[in-house]
Amino acid sequence: PSTIVKKLFLAGKVVTLNQEIDYETAEEIALEYEVLCEHEVVVDVIEELLKEEEEDTEAMVKRPPVVCVMGHVDHGKTSLLDAIRDSNVIDREAGGITQHIGASVVEVNGEKITFLDTPGHEAFTAMRMRGANSTDIAILVVAADDGVMPQTIEAINHAKAAEIEIVVAINKVDKPSANVERVKQELTEYELIPEDWGGSTIFVPVSAHTKEGIPELLEMILLTAEVMELKANPERNARGLVIEAELDKGKGAVATVLVQKGTLHVGDSIAAGSSHGRVRAMMDDKGRRVKTAGPSMPVEILGLNDVPNAGEVFVGCENEKEARSFAETFISQGRVNMLADTKSKNMSLDDLFT
Ligand code: GTP
Ligand code: MG
Repeated sequence: PSTIVKKLFLAGKVVTLNQEIDYETAEEIALEYEVLCEHEVVVDVIEELLKEEEEDTEAMVKRPPVVCVMGHVDHGKTSLLDAIRDSNVIDREAGGITQHIGASVVEVNGEKITFLDTPGHEAFTAMRMRGANSTDIAILVVAADDGVMPQTIEAINHAKAAEIEIVVAINKVDKPSANVERVKQELTEYELIPEDWGGSTIFVPVSAHTKEGIPELLEMILLTAEVMELKANPERNARGLVIEAELDKGKGAVATVLVQKGTLHVGDSIAAGSSHGRVRAMMDDKGRRVKTAGPSMPVEILGLNDVPNAGEVFVGCENEKEARSFAETFISQGRVNMLADTKSKNMSLDDLFT
């Protein structure tokens, strides 16, 4: 009662505890509290989920590393990934310029690695930042004939801000003009010092064209991941990030999401930013239909009622009502973009509401 009295007082209506108020005022207050109630339901759910996170150390199992490939435009990020997975994405790109984040999963010696390809063009800063924020390890691609360039430096800064490991891939070593030592020298200015120079950064000379150095690079990624002891609980409701999303005329909202915790199933109710729905179908990175997606897996999902923003968090919910409630709370909180100011690894669900 004191809260209501205070609220009315602040609104210019002086009332006492026993005084009757008119219907309109009462309605106004009631509506405000209804909103609060909904909000509290969501907060309860979040607390529940957080508790689950704290308690379930036993349910934590090894998960694949998520690796983003970053670097200056044309230094060969997509080519390197094409060489790794034996595909030719670069041929399908307009003007050979990557303009979105592509996710793919590669299996090396029976171990999975999830790669996010990011654009190097200067216009795509937000995507590089998102890439760094969603991953465990960054492969910094620097062309051996070109050296450190503006977006190389930008990528280093994103990776450092996101506190992720950096593995340097000096690419295009097949070129006659390649100068590996010069790249090493240039990178020392950014505190990336090779192990053979007394530092702690892994440098691997590679060529996407001849495939030289690629097995070593993959080995270094797995080694780095091993040391990081990456784990997640696959037994909980899924949670992760929207990598990209668009509206497809036939399919409706299509979102590529990266599952970070738990397992996402076809049929699950989910909220992603201010959109929600039930997962109608899921496709893995090779376009195959899948029924489930565990930690570190990128999947394309259908079934959201609206197109979420890239970088937003998605949460698996108990039912559609809860999912809608999450989405509505998100709207009422003003479309909080998680990645604008929060690091994914330090992110907790209550960040959604602060
Ligand atoms: P953005 O995504 O637009 O930033 O470019 P990117 O870093 O993905 O570069 P991309 O893979 O599109 O390659 C750019 C150009 O460099 C292409 O013409 C490739 O054929 C060439 N290239 C990539 N890797 C190598 C390499 O190892 N050796 C040589 N000689 N050329 C390479
Ligand atoms: Mg590219």
